[in-house]
Amino acid sequence: MTTSSEVDSAVAQLQGKSPQEVLAWALDKFHPHVSLASSFGAEDVVLIDMMARIRPDACVFTLDTGRLPGETYDAIAAIAKKYPQLQLQTMFPQTEAVEKMVREHGINLFYDTVENRKLCCYIRKVEPLNRALEGLQAWITGLRRDQTDNRSQMEVVELDAARDILKINPLIDWTNDMVWEYIRANDVPYNALHDRHYPSIGCAPCTRAIAPGEDLRAGRWWWEQNNQECGLHVNAEGKLVRAKG
Ligand code: ADX
Ligand code: SF4
Repeated sequence: MTTSSEVDSAVAQLQGKSPQEVLAWALDKFHPHVSLASSFGAEDVVLIDMMARIRPDACVFTLDTGRLPGETYDAIAAIAKKYPQLQLQTMFPQTEAVEKMVREHGINLFYDTVENRKLCCYIRKVEPLNRALEGLQAWITGLRRDQTDNRSQMEVVELDAARDILKINPLIDWTNDMVWEYIRANDVPYNALHDRHYPSIGCAPCTRAIAPGEDLRAGRWWWEQNNQECGLHVNAEGKLVRAKG
């Protein structure tokens, strides 16, 4: 049972600390019951490199929706090769749920209605996320405050109230430029789509390149009006996870 006072004291202790200090605290306190959720986007490969320097056998999981771009699989393979001791778990959606959804709504159902898109994100991402988090005391994400309005109020450590575990966001104060400076300085493998105007990468059919000057997340679910979140970072009531639950 995680209490709000535990979360408050963790926030007080970790606010303003470097991502490496936050990760060292998390790995020291929770390993192997803490895992990084990795889409192998720029933020996540930075965190993998930082974690591997602290604990080469750190735990990482990825949600393989079955619709990821080929370049994401290449990034996963490059990371696995560079950090061979990493404990990487790949989560897949439930076969029967995917088969039923496709039978009832079609293979590209997400373009038809927001409801269909949310159903697909639930079956391919959120349900496997719930399974990945079972038995963990904390999870780590690559969320950054300046990514979306929704994320601007997030803290370095939050209570994931729906699951009663901690959610740790070591890069919450970092900018996109800081992420890329780290990748270049440390020669971290990254998704080749980032060099082709894809700053934010999800599933292939739901991600496109952006034009110069567009918002960095403009290529995600671009056909929807409010296309900011897919459900990974909301709690059971559909609200964004916040500090103090
Ligand atoms: S999303 O909600 O819009 O898809 P985004 O791509 O910004 O999320 O990624 C934010 C964080 O969510 C990542 O840094 C990572 O921690 C987690 N995440 C996103 N997609 C995945 C995935 N496929 N597998 C594991 N974690 C993911
Ligand atoms: Fe389905 Fe698109 Fe969500 Fe991926 S991002 S799970 S393809 S709706």
